[in-house]
Amino acid sequence: MRITLVLGDITRQEVDAVVNAANSSLLGGGGVDGAIHRRGGPQILTECRRLRSAQLGKGLPTGQAVATTAGDLPATWVIHTVGPVHSRQEDRSGLLASCYRESLRVADELGAAVVAFPAISTGIYRWPIDDAARIAIQTICGTPTQVAEVRFVLFTPDAYTAFEKALSRHR
Ligand code: APR
Repeated sequence: MRITLVLGDITRQEVDAVVNAANSSLLGGGGVDGAIHRRGGPQILTECRRLRSAQLGKGLPTGQAVATTAGDLPATWVIHTVGPVHSRQEDRSGLLASCYRESLRVADELGAAVVAFPAISTGIYRWPIDDAARIAIQTICGTPTQVAEVRFVLFTPDAYTAFEKALSRHR
């Protein structure tokens, strides 16, 4: 599996699946979540609502992942995952790692070959970017998958540099 880094907007990526840094409600939000719903259009929210009324009555638990259509995005699926809010009192690294692991599991179920990830939990959920990059790279490299390319789409040069460092340390 190839890992690539891109500085840009995840909603513009022509990939099979785009991973969304969602919240448990799956009903949209700011950041990546807002961008995906804005550019992807109402079909995504319609499917999220259907998931909520069916098997996800209490919402999507942190660390888990579920797929919907990608609507008008240049992708086939959106894989919604809920990252942990960073905490200094509690080590939630396992939950952040689970977001990447579970998103790959869902991607394999879908047969997605190219999957774009944002830097989960590093915005509104305040996870320090260097540590988040370390967890992301370690988890992706340590998870067996059929996915051919994992593309981290970083929104800022600082985030890009953090992932570049994490990747070079891991290689
Ligand atoms: N493309 C790629 N990355 C983006 C984009 C975009 N269009 N917009 C924001 N980002 C980056 C942010 O800069 C940050 O590095 O995505 C990363 C994750 O930030 P958030 O989107 O704030 O996600 P997160 O920190 O996981 O918080 C999730 O925010 O939007 C709400 O509904 C969401 O409640 C949930 C919370």
